Amino acid sequence: MNSLSYGSLAQVLDKLHQGAEAADLDYTTEIMIEIEAAGGALEQVIAEKLAEERADYRKIYRDRADNYLAVSPAYGRFLYAIARACKATRIVEFGTSMGISTIYLAAALRDNGGGRLIGTELEHAKVARASANLDAAGLAGLVEIREGDALETLRDVDGNVDLLLIDGAFALYLPVLKLVEHRLRPGAVVLGENAFDPGYLDYVRNPANGYLSQPLPVDEGRGNEFTVRIA
Ligand SMILES: C[S@@+](CC[C@H](N)C(=O)[O-])C[C@H]1O[C@@H](n2cnc3c(N)ncnc32)[C@H](O)[C@@H]1O
Repeated sequence: MNSLSYGSLAQVLDKLHQGAEAADLDYTTEIMIEIEAAGGALEQVIAEKLAEERADYRKIYRDRADNYLAVSPAYGRFLYAIARACKATRIVEFGTSMGISTIYLAAALRDNGGGRLIGTELEHAKVARASANLDAAGLAGLVEIREGDALETLRDVDGNVDLLLIDGAFALYLPVLKLVEHRLRPGAVVLGENAFDPGYLDYVRNPANGYLSQPLPVDEGRGNEFTVRIA
């Protein structure tokens, strides 16, 4: 069974990706202009974004409450495939937004025979929209979205986690990983989408911390890091 390719899910996802493109057009243009203004120095723009998020990530995401900021269809298919490959039954997601990545992951859970995804989202309106999108996809029963700051809502994750997707405020990748780390089973996969924080990358790329990690050649330039829990 592969519900990404058969049935109504493909149509739901197509519609959501189209909605994301339209809603995020201004934001994408803004970023392109910033990169151009920095003479093409993407690293400089990323460093500035990291600094802004360190200063006040809550305000930044409040201002982006209508933006999807979603994974691409290619990355979504990767999410589905990796969740199938590691036979995930328990997934944690930092940064649910409108639920696009959540749908890919929850579809994999269902096709794996069932399970639970714990999502996290700061913005109340996004929690409502993600819930409606998951409902439309027929996947709501597999997902619990915890509203509020993941630094609080992920404090009490229980059970063994097979897959952790980190896709929220850039500056919180390492603190969020450390909150969930003790729940990662050996062989668990940690995916950092927009993993730009040097502190996070240094940590997961240091084998002494119990991980094996490398950049993922999907959507290059978006800071996709693929990490496996070894210890
Ligand atoms: C890049 S978007 C996530 C996109 C989503 N994974 C997808 O592909 O559809 C990041 C989301 O993380 C949320 N967020 C940022 N910081 C957060 C925090 N500390 N706790 C919970 N959610 C947070 C933002 O409101 C935003 O909706």
